Amino acid sequence: MTEPPNGPERASPKSATRDANSAASDEYIGRLSSIEEIAAAVRSCTRCGLAETRINAVPGEGSDSPSILFIGEGPGANEDEQGRTFVGRAGKLLDELLGAVPLLRSDVFITNVVKCRPPGNRDPLPKEVRACWPYLEAQISLLKPHVIATLGRHAMNRFLTNTRISDQHGRATVWRDIVIFPLYHPAAALRSTTLRQTLENDIRGLPAAVLQSLEMSATRSQTPSEIDVSIANDPIPPASTEPSVDDEANKNRLF
Ligand code: URA
Ligand code: SF4
Repeated sequence: MTEPPNGPERASPKSATRDANSAASDEYIGRLSSIEEIAAAVRSCTRCGLAETRINAVPGEGSDSPSILFIGEGPGANEDEQGRTFVGRAGKLLDELLGAVPLLRSDVFITNVVKCRPPGNRDPLPKEVRACWPYLEAQISLLKPHVIATLGRHAMNRFLTNTRISDQHGRATVWRDIVIFPLYHPAAALRSTTLRQTLENDIRGLPAAVLQSLEMSATRSQTPSEIDVSIANDPIPPASTEPSVDDEANKNRLF
């Protein structure tokens, strides 16, 4: 299991011991083999102090093969009460903006950097983000989204280092073969008409980001070494660089 690239500090020997003795270890989380298993582990998780103040952990929800994975910062009061992501005012705005693409919640998956509410909606601490990262990493590996759309600078900074959301919003960047598409947080858009307009415009760029991701996978599946191997093993050489049938099917999934 690798560390998030930006910041969350390494576990001290003390917390590593605590993880091994009383809470799910990174290795255990890395072996979870379905989204439901991850959700169950999150609901009973005690890896950080947020377990003590939460009402409900909020693992995230949506399609199990989403084109887009949205990642917010952490549950708020409404999410904590209901155990579901983005059910408050920010969530209503997100639904409205997705409707313009058009996308439904059931087409995408929505989760957070930390799965339990930071008291008083404070920023999650680096040690909380570090403790929760293996769940997000396991969700990313199982869901295999074409695009990760981060909501707000905290989520963006888990993937892109030394960047400012004012420079990066609405621009696709590649992280571990996945397209990252930073967006402003809908809660910020509720406080500013200008930001709301910007978020609305940026969200319209999501289909192009998904296409970029599909083109990247088509290119990857046509690397010279793979073509050489397939010619050696197959009397009929690959005909062209057209996207594969799978990629076509994936395209239909979004549009
Ligand atoms: N804000 C977030 O970042 N996540 C939620 O789930 C709700 C509000
Ligand atoms: Fe576990 Fe994450 Fe909740 Fe902390 S925030 S208790 S690591 S699920």
